[in-house]
Amino acid sequence: MAAPVEPPPVARRASEPPRNTAAPLSHRPHRPFTYRVRTITGLGTYLGASDARAPTEQEIQRPMDHNRIPPTVRRTYGVDDLSTAPSFAGGFINFGYWQGIDLTAPTSEDRVRSQEQLYRRVLRDFPEPRERLRLAEVGCGRGLGTALALREFRFATVTGVDIHPDQVERARAVNARALATYPDRLAYTLGSADELPFPDASLDGVYSVEAAQHFRELTGFARESARVLRPGGRLVVTTFFTAPGPDATERLKILLAGFADGLDVAHPLTGFTDDLSASGFADVATESIGTHVWPGLDRYLTDTVPTAHWTRNFLTAWRDGLLDYHVVTAVRL
Ligand SMILES: C[S@@+](CC[C@H](N)C(=O)[O-])C[C@H]1O[C@@H](n2cnc3c(N)ncnc32)[C@H](O)[C@@H]1O
Repeated sequence: MAAPVEPPPVARRASEPPRNTAAPLSHRPHRPFTYRVRTITGLGTYLGASDARAPTEQEIQRPMDHNRIPPTVRRTYGVDDLSTAPSFAGGFINFGYWQGIDLTAPTSEDRVRSQEQLYRRVLRDFPEPRERLRLAEVGCGRGLGTALALREFRFATVTGVDIHPDQVERARAVNARALATYPDRLAYTLGSADELPFPDASLDGVYSVEAAQHFRELTGFARESARVLRPGGRLVVTTFFTAPGPDATERLKILLAGFADGLDVAHPLTGFTDDLSASGFADVATESIGTHVWPGLDRYLTDTVPTAHWTRNFLTAWRDGLLDYHVVTAVRL
């Protein structure tokens, strides 16, 4: 078993600072550096598959340029720390899957449950036996869903990847106990959706929860997912996709601050499914889950944010057919 690898060369905080106070990593000078991931080793025997092997440190050492992080993403997940916004709860940063939750007077506990349920909705699409599967989550945020995947679904290994160094640092701090409990099975690392820090064909599954709307383009994500998955490996992605055409994009920019300031990118669903087919995926399937996302979210927001808050407009945008929440699955040829 390889010794644990030092985290990326970033300054450490003993604990997370209060919101909007300490100088965030994102405000420090940006320079290219080499990052190294904690490797998950010693699983070849455990996995039992003939091609199963853990990535070596040399294989996953790649340069990453911090200037590639879009400014809005850098700010939102750095100094602004979106997880502390009233629309979210419990450290998760997704709109939630509200099926089965009583919407009469949803509490912050319900809000956390909705976000956990979105993860469960995605993770259940990975077939049994899950104990043999090596997974990566792209856009893991604070990494709570990554830890949930390991704890509840018992995958062999799960590595959370995020483009923002503050998020990776938070994920390691928030999940310190889980990392100590599963030192060879859980890891968090810096990486970008279009440059994943894994060797070719080294994973059985890749998933992503409400992060792809931030990716500048999805072609690179589809290409990289295809590269790191073994033949037969599965991709599961959930987020909101937009209606095609410039008119829809312009209307979304009026309704939703994220599209207006460039945090979110309008990605039509068919563009992504075409990218997947062109990148070597088969059995590309989509399922609309908006019914289980937007009404529940809006009911919760009714009690937590003002009527004019931009997040309230997601329900309007969905009802107007400008966007919808989907689960997209595909299998690597
Ligand atoms: C809305 S948060 C979702 C976090 C987590 N999946 C959850 O549900 O709690 C989106 C995350 O994606 C990350 N992200 C944005 N662009 C990315 C990229 N190109 N590659 C990897 N991560 C990215 C952000 O830094 C942020 O942590």
